[in-house]
Amino acid sequence: MKTVVISVGGSAINPKTVDAKFLDKLKTVILKASKKNKIVICTGGGFIARDYIRALKNKSNYVQDVMGIHCTRLNAMLIASHISKCNQEIPTTLEEIKDLLASLNIVVCGGLRPGTTSDGTTASIADYLNADYMINMTNVKGLYTKDPRKYKDAKFIGKLSHKEFKEIIDKVKEKPGQHFVLDQLAAKICRQAKIKVAIFKGTNNLQKFLENKKFDGTIIF
Ligand code: UTP
Repeated sequence: MKTVVISVGGSAINPKTVDAKFLDKLKTVILKASKKNKIVICTGGGFIARDYIRALKNKSNYVQDVMGIHCTRLNAMLIASHISKCNQEIPTTLEEIKDLLASLNIVVCGGLRPGTTSDGTTASIADYLNADYMINMTNVKGLYTKDPRKYKDAKFIGKLSHKEFKEIIDKVKEKPGQHFVLDQLAAKICRQAKIKVAIFKGTNNLQKFLENKKFDGTIIF
């Protein structure tokens, strides 16, 4: 039995309104995979988090982060309610997640503490649980040599080492709110803990990955 920790971006759950098809497919894929794997899903806050944080722009980063975490937990509750065969209250600590995972094969959570993102939290959970994989389900196919929206000659990278990934990430200046396929903190945690990371888009790729089939995305080993 493998342990897999999945970061599900808020933009996949709710691009503008809740994506019911995405929720249905996610549920089907996760329920099937949970027969052979322990799965933790950590949800992002998406545009709701950005919107609510914007309304608190004059407040401290701490206050903004706490609001962001509540938004991630709203998405976590949505997924947990939809899946049913998992926790029905959202855990708020690493210890609680581990305890829940002892009796359940699926645990859903949102952010845990201020000062990070759901990617960083997903990596911390993967580290704490000694997970086999961290998966980042995002809204891009995976890693490119350059930003594919800006550069036509950007090449897709299907497989690379943590060391090679660090060299690329070091070149990307991480500004608050800037999106990259995996944030620096998450990359550092997984590199140090030697956790393999898979990055891809969509539930079809999630299914392929969990069934050990060839998927369309990037793997960092
Ligand atoms: P997200 O992780 O959702 O930000 O957290 P994101 O990068 O916009 O992710 P997507 O779009 O869902 O993929 C939203 C905000 O909540 C706070 C941070 O302020 C973050 O920017 N947060 C989240 C935390 O402080 N800690 C956490 O563990 C998670």
